[in-house]
Amino acid sequence: MVRSKIAGIGMYVPQQVFTNQDLMKVMDTSDEWIQERTGIKERRYAKRTGETTTTMAVEAAAIAIERAGITAQDIDFIVFATLSPDYYFPGCGVLVQRAMKMKEIGALDIRNQCSGFVYALSVADQFIKTGMYKNILVIGSEKHSFGLDFSTRGRNVSVIFGDGAGAVVLQPTTKETQGILSTHLHSDGEAAEILAMYNPGTHANHWMQQEVATFNDGNLGDMFMSHAMIDNAQNFPNMDGPSVFKKAVVKFPEVIMEALAANQLTAADITMLIPHQANLRISQFVQQKLGLKDEQVHNNIQKYGNTTAASVPIALCEAWQQGKIKEGDLVCLAAFGSGFTWASALLRW
Ligand code: UT7
Repeated sequence: MVRSKIAGIGMYVPQQVFTNQDLMKVMDTSDEWIQERTGIKERRYAKRTGETTTTMAVEAAAIAIERAGITAQDIDFIVFATLSPDYYFPGCGVLVQRAMKMKEIGALDIRNQCSGFVYALSVADQFIKTGMYKNILVIGSEKHSFGLDFSTRGRNVSVIFGDGAGAVVLQPTTKETQGILSTHLHSDGEAAEILAMYNPGTHANHWMQQEVATFNDGNLGDMFMSHAMIDNAQNFPNMDGPSVFKKAVVKFPEVIMEALAANQLTAADITMLIPHQANLRISQFVQQKLGLKDEQVHNNIQKYGNTTAASVPIALCEAWQQGKIKEGDLVCLAAFGSGFTWASALLRW
């Protein structure tokens, strides 16, 4: 039986550390509030110029590729998860293909926000299992710092997010005790607007049921991105934090239990749970709900904040680098976020 294994893993976080105290200089917030509600002490911000979602991805990918013992020219497919792409289009996958001088391989971008990496891994897993590709580069990368409202108005969102990238190389394995056992993907679009960035977009206020403009209004060009949107700060992410929190603490344990049940395993079998780093309180809640010990869960949101699609591969890479994951160990990846979408993956390292 062919399964996908993680043959190489890499991460990259920008050098620039931004502490809660740094945020207090630009908005009305406090270190106490941020730590108490989220666990975050500091996060990394990419350079304003010269460092993008793609350049960070390339840094992480280069490490993953080297650790897999191959070269960029051996990669035969790219799956790139991000909500903060360099361009509205094209996606970042092709930019990685160009930057790493890869062959004219396929490049797919995934837009699933916090669960993006687990979704991306699941997609790549199918291509490996069917035998279509042998070396897939799966990336999660985000440059949030460029698109947040750093005034007090945006504090409920902006204090949470950080920048960074993580990448893995997936390869086939026939070893019984290795590889991805299963992936589980879910969505519930009912709450799509609860955690969303509406603009720029083609909704023309449709979902927000505001005034609907017509072609006769004479504003053909400014529906997508207008001065008014910027003046009214409508170009930033929106989040109803408490609603997201409530749903997350239900769906996280649910999708982990689903993965365990599908493989006739229990929470006690998990060597390491890598939860999406949304909020330390959410991770602690999930840990408690599943009855996991501290050494069975890896959290690093304290240092990096929430890096959305990058958070799972960064945490996975860090846990592995710290020797917390060894060959044959049972690793569970789980994520929940905007969409809502949520997902899990169970694998033997
Ligand atoms: O990965 C993406 C998925 N996102 C998540 O999983 C986020 C899930 N939600 C959360 O993590 C939490 O809801 C937050 C950390 C975002 C917020 O924590 P909360 O305990 O739910 O706070 P809240 O939104 O209910 O706000 C409580 C108070 C409000 O003030 P009033 O109305 O009680 O006077 C906010 O205005 O805290 C205020 N507040 C802040 N105060 C200081 C909101 N943000 C801040 C801030 N600093 N940064």
